[in-house]
Amino acid sequence: MGARGFETDGLVTEVAVYRSKDDLVRPAELIRSGEVVAFPTETVYGLGANALDKDAIHKIFKAKGRPSDNPLIVHVAEKEQISALVSEITPLARCLIDEFMPGPITLVMRRSQSVPDVVTAGLDTVGIRIPAHPVARELIAMAGVPIAAPSANRSGSPSPTKAEHVLKDLKGRITLIVDGGDCDVGLESTVVDVTGHRPVVLRPGAITSEMIRSACDKIGLSYAQVSVDTVSKMGQTPRSPGQKYRHYAPKSPVTVIHAGKEMMSQAYEQTMISFRQEKPEGVMGVFASHEVCEALRKRFAEEAQGQVVYYEFGSEDDVFSAGQKLYDALRSLDDSGSDRIFAPGFGSEGYGVAYMNRLEKAAGDDSDLDPSAESIKLDGADEDCRQVLFVCTGNTCRSPMAEGIFNSLAKEAGPFVFHDCPTRDAKVFATSAGIFASFGSPAAQNAVEALRQLYGIDISGHRSRRVDETLLSSTHLILTMTQEHAMFLKAAFPPASGRVYDIFSYFENTNIPGEMVRELLKSPAGIPDPFGASLDEYIKTAQTLEHVLSALMPYILENLGVMPISLI
Ligand code: TXA
Ligand code: MG
Repeated sequence: MGARGFETDGLVTEVAVYRSKDDLVRPAELIRSGEVVAFPTETVYGLGANALDKDAIHKIFKAKGRPSDNPLIVHVAEKEQISALVSEITPLARCLIDEFMPGPITLVMRRSQSVPDVVTAGLDTVGIRIPAHPVARELIAMAGVPIAAPSANRSGSPSPTKAEHVLKDLKGRITLIVDGGDCDVGLESTVVDVTGHRPVVLRPGAITSEMIRSACDKIGLSYAQVSVDTVSKMGQTPRSPGQKYRHYAPKSPVTVIHAGKEMMSQAYEQTMISFRQEKPEGVMGVFASHEVCEALRKRFAEEAQGQVVYYEFGSEDDVFSAGQKLYDALRSLDDSGSDRIFAPGFGSEGYGVAYMNRLEKAAGDDSDLDPSAESIKLDGADEDCRQVLFVCTGNTCRSPMAEGIFNSLAKEAGPFVFHDCPTRDAKVFATSAGIFASFGSPAAQNAVEALRQLYGIDISGHRSRRVDETLLSSTHLILTMTQEHAMFLKAAFPPASGRVYDIFSYFENTNIPGEMVRELLKSPAGIPDPFGASLDEYIKTAQTLEHVLSALMPYILENLGVMPISLI
C-alpha cells in the first residue's frame, strides 16, 4: 500500500492507495476500533465508522461538521446482513433489494433496535445500502460490522468523487483515506423510502424512477414517484432530512445553461457575453461538453490567459459523463478562481433528473431572494387578481410557453369581471414554475422562437423559478404538464392539492367529449417535454398548448369565478 501522511490539527490523515485486499487490513481494523475511515464507493467517497458504535458515529458528525438531525446510511456487504438492521423487509423492499443491490441505491426501511439513535437521527427508519464498489464491499466484509457512512465531504461542499477531494475537506480530521481512484457514478445513491406500499424517491440518482417503476411492474406493485426535495422548505419535517440543507455548493455562483443540443454553444456564448459586460475582469468557469468547449475556445480565443477556464465532460448527449464529472468540475473550477461557473442543463428524464437535482442545488435555491416570487405573492394577495400557475419540470420549455399562450388568450378574451359581483373588475393572468427548476434561467431559445413565429408572443424575458409554498398558496388554479408533476405537487404540498390538476385530468371537469380530448392531447401522460429537441418539436408543443388552452379557457375562467365583460 502506498501511504502518505497529512497533518493539521494534530491528527495525521493517511492516504492509502488501494492495490490489493491486503491494503484493507488496517482500514478494517481502524473501523473496528472505533475510528473513521474514508473509502471509495461507486457513487461518491464515504466517511465510514462502525454503525453499531455510538462514539464512532459521533466522530463522523464532528469531522464533517454535519448537523446531527441528518441520518446516516448504513452500508453492508451482503443482502443477508440487512435483516438484523430492520424490523421488516416489505415485499416492495425485497423487490428492490433483489433488483438493484449491490448498486447505487439506498432503501429506507423501518429500523430494528440494533441501530443506534445517533445513526438514524432519532427516526424510526434506517437507510440501507450495499455499494457495488469492490473496495467498499471488501472493506465492510473485512471490518465485520455494518458501516455508517455519509459522503466524505465537509457539510455544504460538493460530495467527493476523488480521494484528493476528501483530503482537501477532511485533512487532519480523520485518520485514513483509502484511495480507490475516481468514482464511476459521481452522484450519490438514489434514496427510496420502501416502508409503504409504493416506493417514494427521496433523492434521485443513477437508479432512475423508470428503473424502479419497471422493477415494481414486474411483480405487480404500484408505483409513485414523489420526491420530497421541496417539502422541507415549507417547514414540515422532511422525509429525507438531508434534502433540506444546501448541498453540493461551490463558492462561485453557478449559472445553468438551458438549451437544446443545437443551440447549446450559442446559449453559452450569449450568457458569457452578458457576464463579460457585467464583469469585464471576471474569470468564467465553463463546464461543458467537448463540442461546446471546442466552439467556445474559438469564440473566446481573444480572452486573456486564464479568463476563461474549461472543464470538459464527454460528448454533448452524455448526461452520465456530465454527472460523473459534475462535482469534480465544480471543485476544480472553483479552485481556478472562477467568478461564475456555467454548466449545462439536461432534460429531466432518466438520469437527467439526478443530474439536474444536484446541479440546481449547486446553482443555489435562493427562493427567499427571488424578487419575482415576492411580486407574485403580492399580486396573488391582491383581491382583484385570479392567477393560474403552469408547472413543468425545469420551467424553461413547456410551462413558460403555456404561460405566454394563456396570457395572450386571456388578453383577447378580457377584460373580466367577477361572476358574483359583475361590477368588480377582475385581472386574470398566468405564471409558471418548475418542480426541479433553478432560478433565473431564460426560456429555451426554441421555446422563445416557437412562440414568436407562431403567435408573435415574446417570452424572452422569462426567468425560471422553482415551485414553492408561497407561490402555490397565492395561486387559484395549478395546471401541470404531466400526471407525475401533479402527483408530486399534491404529495409535497398537501394544502394546495385541491387546486392541482394535470392538464389531462382537468378535461374531466369539462364537458368536452373524450374523443376531442384525445385528439387535442395525443398522450394521456400529458404534454411531452420538447427539451433539447428541434424547433419543429417546440412548434408542435406550442400548437398543442394553444389548442388545449383555447378549449379549456371558458372552463378555467369559470373555475376562477370570472367572466369576460362581453358576456354581461
Ligand atoms: O451514494 C451515497 O448514498 C453516499 C455513499 C457514501 O454511500 N452516501 C451519502 O450519504 O450520500 P449522505 O449522508 O451524504 O446522504 C444520505 C441522504 C441524506 O439526504 C439523508 O437525509 C438521507 O440520505 N437519509 C439517510 N437515512 C434516512 C432515513 N432513515 N430516512 C430518510 N432519509 C434518510
Ligand atoms: Mg452528503
